[in-house]
Amino acid sequence: MKILAVASEVFPLVKTGGLADVAGALPAALKHHGAEMRVMMPAYPKVMAALEDAKPVHRYEDLFGGPARLLAGTAAGLDLLALDAPHLFDRSGNPYTGPDGKDWPDNWMRFAALSRAAADAGRGTVKDFAPDIVHAHDWQAALAPAYLHFTPQPAAKTVLTVHNIAFQGQFSASIFPALGLPEAAFSIGGVEYYGDVGFLKGGLNYADAITTVSPSYSEEIRTPDYGMGLDGLLRARRDALTGIVNGIDTDIWNPASDAHLALSYVPRNFVQRRLANKRAVEERLGLEQSDGLLFCVVSRLTWQKGMDILAQCLDGLVAQGARLALLGSGDAALENDFREAAEKYPGRIAVKIGYDEGLSHLLQGGADAILIPSRFEPCGLTQLYGLRYGCVPVVSRVGGLADTVVDANEAALDQESATGVQFAPVDASTLARAIERATRLYADRKAWNSMQKAGMKTDVSWEKSAARYAQLYQKLLQS
Ligand code: ADP
Ligand code: GLC
Repeated sequence: MKILAVASEVFPLVKTGGLADVAGALPAALKHHGAEMRVMMPAYPKVMAALEDAKPVHRYEDLFGGPARLLAGTAAGLDLLALDAPHLFDRSGNPYTGPDGKDWPDNWMRFAALSRAAADAGRGTVKDFAPDIVHAHDWQAALAPAYLHFTPQPAAKTVLTVHNIAFQGQFSASIFPALGLPEAAFSIGGVEYYGDVGFLKGGLNYADAITTVSPSYSEEIRTPDYGMGLDGLLRARRDALTGIVNGIDTDIWNPASDAHLALSYVPRNFVQRRLANKRAVEERLGLEQSDGLLFCVVSRLTWQKGMDILAQCLDGLVAQGARLALLGSGDAALENDFREAAEKYPGRIAVKIGYDEGLSHLLQGGADAILIPSRFEPCGLTQLYGLRYGCVPVVSRVGGLADTVVDANEAALDQESATGVQFAPVDASTLARAIERATRLYADRKAWNSMQKAGMKTDVSWEKSAARYAQLYQKLLQS
C-alpha cells in the first residue's frame, strides 16, 4: 500500500508546531503496518539544502505563475517529494509569514500549488510512485481531495487530517478562477464558504475520509462551540470522520538517551537523576535553586493555549512557593505580560521568548510539571512528552488533553493510575485551583512519584495509532 502524505511542515526540516512532528513521525511508524509513505512538501530553502539524491520526477512549465518540478529524494531519513517552485517557496524563515510577520499574500497560491501537485501525483503522474492514497494534512493541503475529486478515475483515494480547525485557509472568491477547479466546485457542497473560498471546507467536503487528532476533538468539532463554522458540515459527514490520537517519536523523545539533558534517566532511577536536570534548568534560566515545585510551559503564546489565563495566575503560583520556567513565542502582548512577570519575580519566574528545541527537551526532563491550560487542544504533544519524561501534565480537560492524561482523582490515586491533573472549565479560577492541587500532590512525594511512574509507563508511541491509520487506509482501498 503506497501513501502520499502532503504537509506544509515536516520535522526536523521545517517546524512551527505539532503538525511537523506528526508529519515527520508517521512514515516510520507506518512501516511496520505495511504502508509505504512518502511525504510531499514545499521545497523551502532548508528542504533544498537537506535533500539528498534529488531526482526530478515531474515538471510543470507553469504552476501558478512559474515553472516547477517535483524532486524525489531523501532528507533526515524521510522519503520526500519536494515541490521545487522557486517563485512560491524560495523564501527563508517561517513557512507562512514574511519578514513583517504577516501571512504571505500569495499563500492561497502557494498551497493550492502544493495541493495541485499532490493531486497530480494521485493520478499517477509521478515516475516510480503511484500512491493508493493521498493523505492531506490541514488547510494547506486540503485542496488535494478537491482536485482529485474532479480527476478522471481511477485515482488515489483521499484522507484529510484536521490538526486545528481554527486555521481554515479562507480567501476571497476572486481567487476561484485561478484555482483551476470546475465551476461546479464553487458551491455549498464544494469550496464555497460564506461567499469566499475555503480550502479546509473544500477538503472536508471532498475527502473520502476525514480524521482529526483525538477522539474527543472529533466530537467537539461537531458542536458550534468548537467547530468554528464547520460543525454543521462535520455533523453531516460524521460517518467519514474518526479521531486518532497522535503519538510521539519515542527515539527523539527518549529520556534514556536525550543529549539535551544534563543527565539521562530511566524509570528505575529517575528521581535522583531528574534532580540534576532541574538544577540545569535553574542555572540556565537564572532561577533560584530550590526543591519546591517547578512548573514549565513550552508553547505558542496564544489565546488557544490559554496563556492569558495563565498570566492571571502567576501571583498565586509564586505565593504558593512554586516557580515557573516558560519557553514560548507568539502574541506580542502575551510575550510582554510574561516578560513583566519575570521582572516582577526574579528567581521565581523565568521567561525565554523564542523557539529552542534543545531547551524544550531540558524543561521536560528537569521541571516537575508542565502547564497546558488550552481553551481547545486538538491533540497536544507537550503533555505526551511530559508523560514520557516524568514531567507531570497539568491540563485543561479538552480535546487530546482529556484523552491522554488521567486525572489524579481519589480512585486513580488509589489505583496508581493517575498521570496528571485535569481541570474544567477553562478559566483563571479553575486553573488557580489546579495549580494548588498540583502543589499539594507534590508535597506528598510518594503520590507524586507514583504519578510520574504511571506517566512514564503510558504508551505514547505511534504504535496503536499507526495501526489505526493503516486500518483506515485498508478500509478505503476495499470500499
Ligand atoms: P501546537 O501544534 O498547537 O503548537 P502541539 O503541542 O501539538 O501544539 O505541538 C507543539 C510542538 O512545538 C511541540 O513539539 C513543542 O515542544 C514545540 N514547541 C512549541 N513552542 C516551542 C518553543 N518555543 N520552543 C521549542 N519547541 C516548541
Ligand atoms: C495542531 C494542534 C495540536 C496538535 C497538532 C498535531 O497544531 O493545535 O493540538 O497536537 O496540531 O496534530
